[in-house]
Amino acid sequence: MPATILIKNARCVSSLGIIKQDVLLDNGKISVLGNIAENKAEQIIDASHLYLLPGALDPQVHFRDPGLTWKEDLRTGSLAAAAGGVTGFFDMPNTKPSTITCEAMADRKQVASEKCIVNYNFFIGATSENLEVLNSVENVPGIKVFMGASTGDLLVSDAGEIENIFANGSRLIAVHAEDDDIINSARELYKDSQDFNDHQFARPPEAALKATTLAVELAIKYQRRLHILHLTTKEEVRYLDINKSKGPISVEVCPQHFLLSAPYIYEKLGAYAQMNPPLRDIDHGEALWEGLTRGIIDCIATDHAPHTHAEKSKPFGQAPSGMPGVETSLALMLDRANRGLCKLEDVVKWMCEKPVELYKVNNKGFIKEGFDADLVLVDMNRKRTIENGKLQTMVNWSPYDGWTTQGWPIITIVNGNIVFRDGEFDESVKGREIVIAS
Ligand code: DOR
Repeated sequence: MPATILIKNARCVSSLGIIKQDVLLDNGKISVLGNIAENKAEQIIDASHLYLLPGALDPQVHFRDPGLTWKEDLRTGSLAAAAGGVTGFFDMPNTKPSTITCEAMADRKQVASEKCIVNYNFFIGATSENLEVLNSVENVPGIKVFMGASTGDLLVSDAGEIENIFANGSRLIAVHAEDDDIINSARELYKDSQDFNDHQFARPPEAALKATTLAVELAIKYQRRLHILHLTTKEEVRYLDINKSKGPISVEVCPQHFLLSAPYIYEKLGAYAQMNPPLRDIDHGEALWEGLTRGIIDCIATDHAPHTHAEKSKPFGQAPSGMPGVETSLALMLDRANRGLCKLEDVVKWMCEKPVELYKVNNKGFIKEGFDADLVLVDMNRKRTIENGKLQTMVNWSPYDGWTTQGWPIITIVNGNIVFRDGEFDESVKGREIVIAS
């Protein structure tokens, strides 16, 4: 059982505001808020110079376990999460084997219970043949549908097969929305290119808009819960502004899609800038940021998708798509808050409260009595330079290498246990499966 911890004088942040108070953690829960005597706890943290946030929930990561564990595994992925102030994650099914059966799901959860220092759950992957599994597998955040091919072999690109999934069942469907036919035709045009900047044209905005439109139409037709993963285009923002409210639809964006812009980023990073859907030009990035601040986009995820240096040193057309992010997402957003581009309250809304609300996770995401003690203390004055070779993710690189940002997680607490403190981890602590309300 974790020690009772008293966090003194923390500025507790929610989307509604910031309240300075003491927070007592007991038996893995937030037990009391207010003015609390020091003799109530075994351990005291003086947080008078810090902000206390609910731990972030990253609703889209690829931790590669099983089968691709030279890139990442559930241990290193969870260390990276803890260092980044992320106390829970939902992991994607494009592992080896793909997570498309109840047995594969059970295996992943078992391994996670042994290796993860933060809380976890896993999407079930859709194929054209596993409808029964999609609807019967227990306690998952949702069904992942790759409408366009990306890393791995999961793909349901036929409109009729996609409709079949929407028409049958009730659990949340999360879509990688890129139209596979458009991608295949566009890729053909760039098959002889050596230029990574062409990645954005080989997976063009029309592919994203077409798939998003189909998914939204199906969600409206069947009133089926839809989550659109990693939005990337201004056209989708515009379309969703008009159509999102017609169905039970939510939308996510990754920081890299509004922080990193083509063509500059491809010139600088080459294959390391390649991901799906692609990084695009600044007009798209600005529309995404506006969509987020206006609430058309609900939440932030990272799509943390590590590949090794050896894999990324392949030429255009052969290098895999994806970049790490779970370790830096909160810090990047804290930096934006420090620079006055948004409020700290917004960061908490996008990274802590909304993911929990959208995925129906009870007792997390807020600093409230009785809620799980998944928390992060951040120092808004701390400056740090993100550096390749000094990260927790197994691949040990970041597209933000060389960026100095202000505002960093200092202490990460999971179920009342301090799992990360000033660069040190407590790996004796294990995370728990995140429960999804039905
Ligand atoms: O760039 C990406 N990489 N996008 C995805 O959808 C998958 C991911 C991966 O698993 O590498």
